[in-house]
Amino acid sequence: MRTLQIGVLGSGSGSNMQSILDAIVAGALNANVACVISDVPGARILDRARKHQVPGLYLDPAPFKTKLDGVAEQRVIETLRAHGVDTVVLAGFMRMVKPGLLRAFPNRVLNIHPALLPAFPGMHAWAQALDHGAKVAGCTVHFVDEGMDTGPIIVQRAVPVLFGDTPATLHARIQVQEHQAYPEALQLLAEGRLRVEGRRVHVLPA
Ligand code: GRF
Repeated sequence: MRTLQIGVLGSGSGSNMQSILDAIVAGALNANVACVISDVPGARILDRARKHQVPGLYLDPAPFKTKLDGVAEQRVIETLRAHGVDTVVLAGFMRMVKPGLLRAFPNRVLNIHPALLPAFPGMHAWAQALDHGAKVAGCTVHFVDEGMDTGPIIVQRAVPVLFGDTPATLHARIQVQEHQAYPEALQLLAEGRLRVEGRRVHVLPA
């Protein structure tokens, strides 16, 4: 089994990155978080990283507002390489990644999305599920391709939508499952148990 060298990209609170660090400390995930990069100065994810002695770096995403492209993308790729990263983990990264990053880390960019894809891609997926009257919601860990939340699915976990749920209560219930699902998917990758065939990811037996 190899030790994954993870680079995390995130824009917000970083609770998923925290769950990855916790799983490593608990011995449940064979990985090292080599660096954390944020497009938001002062994002909480950077504080969390530094508390664990992980380099937490702000990289200016200008001139783009909604994507990681051009010189900003180049800077991110160079920084990830300089830290020896082989696996890129998007954890609440609020930008579309472009082919340059995907080519630099082929089949090694993962994302977590707060819905049972292919339902409810895009922003505020838990609120979309609630508005739609869905009875089941959840989260999806998937490989990233050029689309918006469209890449091959690795792990999904479901939660019920309860009477009286608000967007906040449903998101909180989904996040509990996210914090299990992301380390689980990464451990499968570390164990070399994921085979991608077209849209399908086969999980090989242990
Ligand atoms: C999560 O709900 C994740 O599914 C979505 O963004 C949120 C990030 O939360 N992509 P956190 O920053 O990991 O707490």
